[in-house]
Amino acid sequence: MVTREQVLDRLRTVKYPGYSRDIVSFGMVKDVQVEDSRVKIHLHITTQDPKIREAIATLAREQVESMPGVSEVEFHVEAGEVKRPGHAPGIRETRKLLEHVRYKIAVASGKGGVGKTTVAVNLALALARRGAKVGILDADIYGPNIPIMMGVHEKPRGKDNKILPMESYGVKLMSIGFFLDENSPIIWRGPLVGKAIEQLLTDVLWEDIDYFIVDLPPGTGDAQLSISSLVQLSGAIIVSTPQDVALEDAVKGVKMFQKVNVPILGIVENMSYFLCPHCGERTDIFAHGGAKRTSEAMGVPFLGEIPLDPGIREGGDHGKPIVAVQPESPQAQAFLDIADRVLERLPTPA
Ligand SMILES: Nc1ncnc2c1ncn2[C@@H]1O[C@H](COP(=O)(O)OP(=O)(O)OP(=O)(O)O)[C@@H](O)[C@H]1O
Ligand SMILES: [Mg+2]
Repeated sequence: MVTREQVLDRLRTVKYPGYSRDIVSFGMVKDVQVEDSRVKIHLHITTQDPKIREAIATLAREQVESMPGVSEVEFHVEAGEVKRPGHAPGIRETRKLLEHVRYKIAVASGKGGVGKTTVAVNLALALARRGAKVGILDADIYGPNIPIMMGVHEKPRGKDNKILPMESYGVKLMSIGFFLDENSPIIWRGPLVGKAIEQLLTDVLWEDIDYFIVDLPPGTGDAQLSISSLVQLSGAIIVSTPQDVALEDAVKGVKMFQKVNVPILGIVENMSYFLCPHCGERTDIFAHGGAKRTSEAMGVPFLGEIPLDPGIREGGDHGKPIVAVQPESPQAQAFLDIADRVLERLPTPA
């Protein structure tokens, strides 16, 4: 005799294609009924792609049919409306809290250290200069850099059991970095990743914001996926450097968002070229132009190029982002141009 729990345990071995999370933790198993050796399973798989639905159903069937004590498995697979996968408790509530935020934009990259946080911060400041109310969520819970880059060193204060976001250069921000001991390594176990992000969304008074910029950790794993499902993203920006290795990872990033139906607003090429501060000569250190070619090949927009520039790095390291402190510089202009392209590409709300 097999039990409902045993069937669920077996279904936990079925991963959502391309992810390390399983279909049970994604909330895709709606119901399991066991009558003697007959099992009825109701799956609710929210993806536009029928191939993924079939793949999941086939894997699930193979797993359950091979269980001892099971003679017959009946599957009911529901396609459901087009939503991002992920229905952990709290998602609805989180989405509701951010309902008033017009646009939620993730800044992501497949590879680390390519300048996501630099782009997120300067893009946020550029949007604020265009008159928008902007918030930044530091969703890089492994290496939260937003406080340093925005020059905020105080701790957030509470209000009515919630946390008030910090503010810097007219932009609201929140980061797990404010609550962690700077010297201790951060080790998050799987489910805690989603939980930490969820708290940064639900426990913080995110009010009066038009654009919510989410700075993601590098990579295309669970953290990125859990944020995509918690925040109903309006779109994602992929940051890459021009080298092939970074571009390969950018392609993975684009594919990850496409898989969960998040529109790609475009790719940014960071550290694209070097403008000599002394002679003004331009050098293409990493052979510039790769991100534009990748965008074209993938049919996604190209948002622009940011030069490799000592001022951009120093601004980041010292909490003086270039768009805030030298808004007239050509480097800042590169970010402002990207912000304008992002604004053009965002869908007009219904
Ligand atoms: N265009 C640029 N010119 C010069 N330095 C830059 C530029 N962009 C980023 N940097 C520097 O490169 C380093 C990495 O940038 P950043 O932290 O923004 O990358 P990241 O992709 O967010 O990294 P991680 O994957 O660790 O989160 C920082 O020291 C930053 O100041
Ligand atoms: Mg970063």
